Amino acid sequence: MRVGAVGDFADGALSPVAVAGRELVVVRDGDAWYAFPDRCTHAKRPLSDGDYAGGVVTCIYHGATFDLNRAGKATMPALRALPCHAVAVEGDDVFVDLA
Ligand code: FES
Repeated sequence: MRVGAVGDFADGALSPVAVAGRELVVVRDGDAWYAFPDRCTHAKRPLSDGDYAGGVVTCIYHGATFDLNRAGKATMPALRALPCHAVAVEGDDVFVDLA
């Protein structure tokens, strides 16, 4: 599913997008792209309010972190990993696999 153009995503930002009835976050980090639900696995607060650095998302509400390069691996107080979606860039278009 197309989520936007490459230029829509500032480098290193947690960009919320709504697509196909889902609230997602897309992150562009140089040539690396990530997408995941805009919902912390701890208490379901929006991760787009949090911080991103070096492939790790930090939830501002209670401090859980999710490692996007390790299948969304979580730290306390979150117990469940963040389910990540594959991202593909074709030309100027950014696509997220919602399967
Ligand atoms: S809601 Fe994210 S750490 Fe609690």
